[in-house]
Amino acid sequence: DWLTRPTLRNRPMPDQAPDQANEKQLAAAAAVQELADGMVVGLGSGSTSALAIRAIGAAVKGGLDILGIPTSVASEQLARELGIPLTTLDEHPAVDLTIDGADRFNDSLDLIKGGGGALLREKVVAAASKRFIVITDASKHANPLGGFPVPVEVIPFGVQPVLQRFTDLNLNPVIRQTAAGVPFITDENNLIVDLQIAAVPDPTKLAEQLVTPGVVEHGLFIGLADEVLMGVGGGVQRFTA
Ligand code: 5RP
Repeated sequence: DWLTRPTLRNRPMPDQAPDQANEKQLAAAAAVQELADGMVVGLGSGSTSALAIRAIGAAVKGGLDILGIPTSVASEQLARELGIPLTTLDEHPAVDLTIDGADRFNDSLDLIKGGGGALLREKVVAAASKRFIVITDASKHANPLGGFPVPVEVIPFGVQPVLQRFTDLNLNPVIRQTAAGVPFITDENNLIVDLQIAAVPDPTKLAEQLVTPGVVEHGLFIGLADEVLMGVGGGVQRFTA
């Protein structure tokens, strides 16, 4: 598993079920049904969000009139390629609806996010949103929350004291590296420290422990999600807050 396989280094690597791609597609399609003309829409990051962005691109071609706010450079590039009109939080500080993926969620709709390293912009956009819909495949549902490292975004200047603090708290911190073996750098030019802990039975308590100088944001999204649309088998299961 991801905790013990050294070849994976510290890169979060969700399992690939055979029908996972279909589940992601079903969840993405269901979320895009919620869009309406005139909305400002947060565009999430990751593979499931990319499916939603592609569906939004097709809807825009068909006449849907929305403005998107991407949560990562990658999502911005994809949205531009698809011709989705974009705006910014400066122009539209209130977002009508954000659609984004997650690495794990529990029945309280607490999330672990940041497997793709975009958690900072994702959380800013989610917090600015009137409605936040999370789209996942069935592998992401976990009670208690866990089974995936908890990412923390840290400024490079402060990373060593942060690592020391997290080590003292037995949180097994590891600086995320790329496949090339160099530190992963976020869109905001920070590092990601992955906490390799098996479970997060009390997300609120852990979130409090993570607040320390040098930490910009962490990947625990608590009280932000309004709904999770989870593809499962041939359908979509809806979890509400
Ligand atoms: C990126 C994220 C993604 O939403 C999360 O990693 C889920 O990705 P995927 O849909 O590819 O499983 O938080 O920072």
